[in-house]
Amino acid sequence: MIFDNVPEAPPDAVFGLLGAFSADSRPQKVNLLVGIYKNEQLQNEMMPSVIEAKSQVLPDVSLADYLPMDGSRDFVEAVGSLVFGDGNVYGAQAIGGTGALRIGGEFLAQEVGKTIYIPEFSWPNHRSIFERAGFCVETYPYYERTRHEFDANGCLAFLEKLPKRSIVLFHAACHNPTGCDPQMKEWAQIARVVRERQLLPFFDFAYQGLGDGLEKDAAAIRLFLSEGLEFLVAYSCSKNFSMYCQRVGALFVVTRNGSLKTKIASQIKRIVRAEFSNPPAHGAMIVTHILKGNLRSQWESELEKMRKRLHQMRCEFVRRLMAKKTSTDFRSLLEHKGMFSFIDLEKQQVQQLREKFGIYMLDNGRINIAGLNHKNLDYVADHIIQVI
Ligand SMILES: Cc1ncc(COP(=O)(O)O)c(C=O)c1O
Repeated sequence: MIFDNVPEAPPDAVFGLLGAFSADSRPQKVNLLVGIYKNEQLQNEMMPSVIEAKSQVLPDVSLADYLPMDGSRDFVEAVGSLVFGDGNVYGAQAIGGTGALRIGGEFLAQEVGKTIYIPEFSWPNHRSIFERAGFCVETYPYYERTRHEFDANGCLAFLEKLPKRSIVLFHAACHNPTGCDPQMKEWAQIARVVRERQLLPFFDFAYQGLGDGLEKDAAAIRLFLSEGLEFLVAYSCSKNFSMYCQRVGALFVVTRNGSLKTKIASQIKRIVRAEFSNPPAHGAMIVTHILKGNLRSQWESELEKMRKRLHQMRCEFVRRLMAKKTSTDFRSLLEHKGMFSFIDLEKQQVQQLREKFGIYMLDNGRINIAGLNHKNLDYVADHIIQVI
């Protein structure tokens, strides 16, 4: 038969383990896996401002038409001002951050080069997306294991040796999986090398508002913009608008020569046309309604509340780990930003946590801080210490 030889693909690094978590019948099990925000009751909840926006917008929608290939202009302008401080950068609506990375990847593979450099530790899907977009995917040093922080020296030394016009992926804020971001002075050094080596940065911006706040999380991108550099941004509204399944995102292309916008737009639209023709409307309408209307301050304060809960859980987790007085110093986790942190555990320790205690994290030791609450903090901290 025709499909007899189809091999089974390996399970996804994140969603694969989720199946094992769901099948685990132990009541004390803890899910620190998928990058979804959860409240103190460990529920994934839609933000109230989004529920309200939905009820205000959708009843009146009777669209029986396609959106333009590069999506709603209102949406792109609204998200553009969130990212850049003004909405005057060319952008295309995309199917989540993943879709934006894929469209941007195809555009760069077509126009700029066939190799992309991603951090040595990165969101596992980066490699798959860019390979399928036609790239050879290489890595650059990112994480300093002894100090548990961004490896500024290793990264800069590597970037300095790259061929001109190399494409480099950066996480704009809240690095996934390590939680370690460059400090602003390090971003300034990166921007200098980008200029000198004429590199092309591609920022993945999936967690705006969950690190240090909406404005501060955009600081690296704003710096590159003010330096007059050219770059791309793949934006996701999945986490900061709790719009995971609505698939809302955008791709932005920053160029120094504004007159190129029409040509660039024409290429992006051509790629979109062949991938999914045009994006879906409803999710983008909801986000636009929030950003441009009177629900904006409510949304901002809900996002702030989420950010503060992550921060509080991070602090309490470290306090509990440190109270156990092991030789491991966990204080570096306090410097991490956003939803994730890397805990330096061996793969077999991670497996032990999963098998013996029902504590699920990725094999590389990445935890989602949002999976912690006041009820499970002690349980998780105690058993991490036990396996160490
Ligand atoms: C770093 C990073 N980029 C992009 C994405 C993709 O987001 P989306 O769900 O909007 O496709 C994620 C999602 O987990 C992510 O962690």
